[in-house]
Amino acid sequence: MSPHSSRSYSRRGFLATAGAASSGLGLTAGALATGFDAKAPCPGPARNTCSALKHPPLERVRVGFIGVGGRGMSLLGNLLDIPHVEVSAVCDVVPERVKRAQAQVRAKGQAEPAGYDSGERAFEALCRRDDLDLVYIATPWDSHVPMAVTAMRQGKHAALEVPAALTIEECWELVDTAETTRCHCLMLENCCYGEIELLVLRMVVQGVFGELTHAEAGYLHEARDYLLQDLPGANWRRRFVATLDGNLYPTHGLGPVALYLGIHAGDRLDHLVSMSSRELALGRRRDALPAGDPRRRESFACGDINTTLVRTALGRTILVQFSMVQSRPYSRINMVAGTTGTFCDYPPRLHLDGQPEGWVTDLSPYHERYGHPLWKQLNAPGPGLGRPWRHGLRDELAPDPVPPRGTAAGPDGVRCRRLELPRAAEHRVRRAGQRPGGGPRFHTGCVAGPAAEVHWRRFEPSGLVRHASAWVPQKAAESADHGGPMGR
Ligand SMILES: NC(=O)c1ccc[n+]([C@@H]2O[C@H](COP(=O)([O-])OP(=O)(O)OC[C@H]3O[C@@H](n4cnc5c(N)ncnc54)[C@H](O)[C@@H]3O)[C@@H](O)[C@H]2O)c1
Repeated sequence: MSPHSSRSYSRRGFLATAGAASSGLGLTAGALATGFDAKAPCPGPARNTCSALKHPPLERVRVGFIGVGGRGMSLLGNLLDIPHVEVSAVCDVVPERVKRAQAQVRAKGQAEPAGYDSGERAFEALCRRDDLDLVYIATPWDSHVPMAVTAMRQGKHAALEVPAALTIEECWELVDTAETTRCHCLMLENCCYGEIELLVLRMVVQGVFGELTHAEAGYLHEARDYLLQDLPGANWRRRFVATLDGNLYPTHGLGPVALYLGIHAGDRLDHLVSMSSRELALGRRRDALPAGDPRRRESFACGDINTTLVRTALGRTILVQFSMVQSRPYSRINMVAGTTGTFCDYPPRLHLDGQPEGWVTDLSPYHERYGHPLWKQLNAPGPGLGRPWRHGLRDELAPDPVPPRGTAAGPDGVRCRRLELPRAAEHRVRRAGQRPGGGPRFHTGCVAGPAAEVHWRRFEPSGLVRHASAWVPQKAAESADHGGPMGR
């Protein structure tokens, strides 16, 4: 247990309330409201932050994989396409998956990586190897933090799939371990690198939407049959849906929106209220299973849809939604509104001051003007680069520039200091306990004290934002309203 977690709150108190209420950001409202030591200080500038952590650049990056299921195998393929990546070891509790991953590495012309398949703790031996720079973790949610902490304690940078952590205690464990070991700890929120998300980010930093006041984010992904499937080892998500209520997968939607709003780079999440609907849809699908199927005895704690409303320190609002059971098309919502315009995704559309009533749906002029150069390059016709597949491209952009440059992430967005959501939640919790006279205003409160204020403000914008800001299109820069004729 980290020094923070042990001194600041009772894990038992946390666990007792953890299933009781809903949350944004992967943390339950019950946990946020109770069990915390009112005297616990907010972390301030004295912390040995990893904000500017830099290591010497590497010629090649030696990667060890823990978890080569669906996501691990997909990322393995992406990383094997990058010339400076060498996959030295793979680990999974299912031996066939280790063999499959080894074969994929061999097929790409690399030496067979060492395999670890001897059980739940085989990853520890992988982390002890002396020929790894980075450990990539794509296992079920509750194993991310123990694995990342083990990797960092063995001197390896850790890259965690989302969600990086499940509790505030775990968040602090990551932060404390990274700050102690001086290893990078990356939350691999690939949605920050999506084509539309980077387009919107660039438009935001160029001022196209004016001063932002509101954003909406979500993970709305109908997956009832997937959740109910009974393949060995494949039903771990159902375990969480059965026991936790709240937003179980916040970062795909909230990650990009946090970049738009400059969360932890001038603004921060201040307080929230969150609630879930009743559970019905997954239960109805379960009831349609054949009589006698043991799954018919299961029940689910997670409501059909969770909705969280956050207010930031600068008085802006964010709506965050989560549902994996509602019958509807996929959406991460991805909406942002400012004083001169609004962008909405799914499908992408916008409206700016001066435009006729209705949405502008042909965004090609905006892609032309504000599109990310990497996406333009990758979308260009021609061998090798024309990849219209949004998910895959996000995945390629996300991990590639990470260690060779020495900093945690080239375009940034996911390094230790930007574990934005959990850390903000931690502030929320601490201040909730500090309120004179008792509890928070709603279910929760998150108002950081002056020390934290300084702490957040001194962070520079992430590399992703700096990169977007530095790239000013000529015509837009000349235009008074930053939108120019095309912005109208
Ligand atoms: N960023 C994205 O777009 C994205 C997409 C899908 C999944 N994910 C995340 O990736 C992670 C994995 O999801 P998935 O869909 O690949 O699940 P999965 O079940 O397909 O794969 C998980 C793998 O981890 C292995 N595993 C479990 N415990 C282990 C242990 N102790 N040691 C070694 N291996 C172990 C399992 O055997 C399995 O092969 C999750 O955190 C998920 O949220 C992210």
